[in-house]
Amino acid sequence: GDGRKKEFDIKIKCMIYLADTANIDEIKELFNYFPMEGVTTNPNILSHEQKSLSTVIPLIQECIKDKMLHIQTISHLAEDILQEAKRYRDYFNLGDNYYVKIPVTKEGYKAIRLVKDAGMKVTATAIFTQQQALIAAKAGADFVAPYVNRLDNISSHGIDVVRDIVETFKSYQLNCKVLGASFKNVDQIYRVSMVGCHAVTASYEVLDAIMKHPMTDKGVIDFEKDGKH
Ligand code: E4P
Repeated sequence: GDGRKKEFDIKIKCMIYLADTANIDEIKELFNYFPMEGVTTNPNILSHEQKSLSTVIPLIQECIKDKMLHIQTISHLAEDILQEAKRYRDYFNLGDNYYVKIPVTKEGYKAIRLVKDAGMKVTATAIFTQQQALIAAKAGADFVAPYVNRLDNISSHGIDVVRDIVETFKSYQLNCKVLGASFKNVDQIYRVSMVGCHAVTASYEVLDAIMKHPMTDKGVIDFEKDGKH
C-alpha cells in the first residue's frame, strides 16, 4: 500500500536518478535499463511532446508504476497552485508518489505550505541560491531543485550552490533532499554526486552518457575476441 511507498522513498540513502523527460520511448528505455526512481516534468518538457498533459501523464504512469512523478504547476497565485495540484491529484488518481513541483516565487513559497497542509508532497523548483533552498525547506518542501547548468551559464557555479544547500540541510538536520536539475553534461552530475547531492534529474541524453565509457566498450570487444579461443 501507500505506507510502503513512503518508507521506500525516505530510506533511499544513495543517489536518486530521475528522468527529466515526458517522452514515453525515452522513459521506457531508461526504466528498462537503469535503476530509475521516477520522472520530472515541467511545461518546457511537456511542450516538446506536443501532447496534452491529460494524454501524457497516464502514459508516464503506466511506465513508471509507483515510482515518483513530479508535475509542475503553472498557476501564479498560491491558492490557485493548490487547486491545480489537487486537480492533477484527483484527475490522474495520484498517490503518495506524486510531488507537486512549485517554482519558488513569493506565491510559490506560500503555496508550498498550503500544498503540504493539504497532504501532498512538494518539490520546490527553479532554485538558484542557498537561501531560496533553505526557505523552501522551512516552508515544508520535500525536495529542492537547484538549476545547475543555468547557474553555470551565467558565470555562477551550480556545484557551489548545490554543495552549500547539501551542507546547510545537513547542519540544520533538515529532511529536505537536494534534487540537482538542469544538467547539460556528465561532469556536472559527477560533481554534484561528489558533494552528496541526494538526487538528480536529467535528460535521456545526459543519463545515457553517464553510464557509458568508450574503454568499457573496447574492453568488452577484447573480452569477446579472446573468449572465442
Ligand atoms: C527541473 O526539474 C527542470 O525541469 C530542468 O532540469 C531545467 O533544465 P533546463 O535548464 O535544461 O531547462
